[in-house]
Amino acid sequence: MADAARDRTVTSVYNDVKEYYGKTLKQKSDLKSNACVPSAKPVSAYVRKVIAEIHPDVVAKYYGCGLVVPECLEGCRVLDLGCGSGRDCYMLSQLVGEKGHVTGIDMTEAQLEVARNYIDYHMQRFGYKNPNVNFVQGYIEALVEAGLEDKSYDIIISNCVVNLSPDKSSVLREAYCVLKDGGELYFSDVYSDARIPEHLKANKTLWGECLSGALWWEDLIRLAEEVGFCKPRLVSASIITVGNTELESILGDYKFVSATYRLFKLQKGLEKKPCLVMYNGDITDSEESFEFDAQYAFKVDKVMEVDGDVANILRNSRFSEEFTFQPQGVNTASSGGCWAKPNAVSVNPFELVQQLGSASVSPSTGGCCAGQESCCN
Ligand SMILES: C[S@@+](CC[C@H](N)C(=O)[O-])C[C@H]1O[C@@H](n2cnc3c(N)ncnc32)[C@H](O)[C@@H]1O
Repeated sequence: MADAARDRTVTSVYNDVKEYYGKTLKQKSDLKSNACVPSAKPVSAYVRKVIAEIHPDVVAKYYGCGLVVPECLEGCRVLDLGCGSGRDCYMLSQLVGEKGHVTGIDMTEAQLEVARNYIDYHMQRFGYKNPNVNFVQGYIEALVEAGLEDKSYDIIISNCVVNLSPDKSSVLREAYCVLKDGGELYFSDVYSDARIPEHLKANKTLWGECLSGALWWEDLIRLAEEVGFCKPRLVSASIITVGNTELESILGDYKFVSATYRLFKLQKGLEKKPCLVMYNGDITDSEESFEFDAQYAFKVDKVMEVDGDVANILRNSRFSEEFTFQPQGVNTASSGGCWAKPNAVSVNPFELVQQLGSASVSPSTGGCCAGQESCCN
């Protein structure tokens, strides 16, 4: 597409989405489909308590499709792409603590107005002297232009937003740019089981409802690696039932899931060596078990084998202090002993949903000899 035509398309998508989230929708119940489904991940009592602290006006305009609570947040600098009315920002504001910071960015003024109106309310409620949140008006495809600095965030989250972007590869590129080395993009979004054709993308309601802008999940994996992220880790997935016969008949056979992936930014050229790790149990709200993704659940004080990708992530991210690593160079296959192995789980969210449905997969129990793949000599 020529540049001018492309710019026109981008601008009209922005305008349509701003109209949808700024004017058409007043609250969650105005949505015309079930795309904003509850997370597949159970919400812990700890997180439920944190969410209960958030003002009802903010919650009323929450249009997320997943739970974006990565672990180990204390003191972190977090960015929320497409923060809307700020529900997730206020949730994470409590989890990073007063020494951490959360920035929300969104292009729709009406959404930001709600978020900004309740800064004082929340800071008082959380007992913070100085606000640890701020909200920026801007485009997630142009974070640096919006005033955000390169390599300045530990974690980026996003909840049901990337599907609305007309330029997803720019979103991932910019996110990569503003993340620190070792940082993480942890985000929930809608994915399709095939590439969505142009005539469906042109339907404003389907796009606004977070359906026809959805990436084919395989394109996410490809784009993420092109931008430089490590291979995406799939955390959770659940099927989206559209729940609107008119929209279903326009959509035909396309299927959708809500899925949460974690993408890490690590230095290039790290050698990929499997190793044995032991989780120390110090992460808040994960004292007994740390569910890193659908494949790995680390039980406290239990030894677990991790592949080279996960070994590099754990060693080179904020999680490095949370584990004891067996010294590199030890051949895990022949060193004997007793440890747990992960489940075999693909990064295809549709496959994960099927596996979960057939009840054969829960994140690895991690207990020695207790998992489905015995590991003891
Ligand atoms: C489905 S809502 C989700 C909002 C919020 N994450 C939540 O969970 O409530 C999508 C939000 O993304 C924002 N958005 C969509 N495309 C954007 C873009 N390209 N740049 C910035 N914000 C965008 C919209 O303005 C809207 O507030």
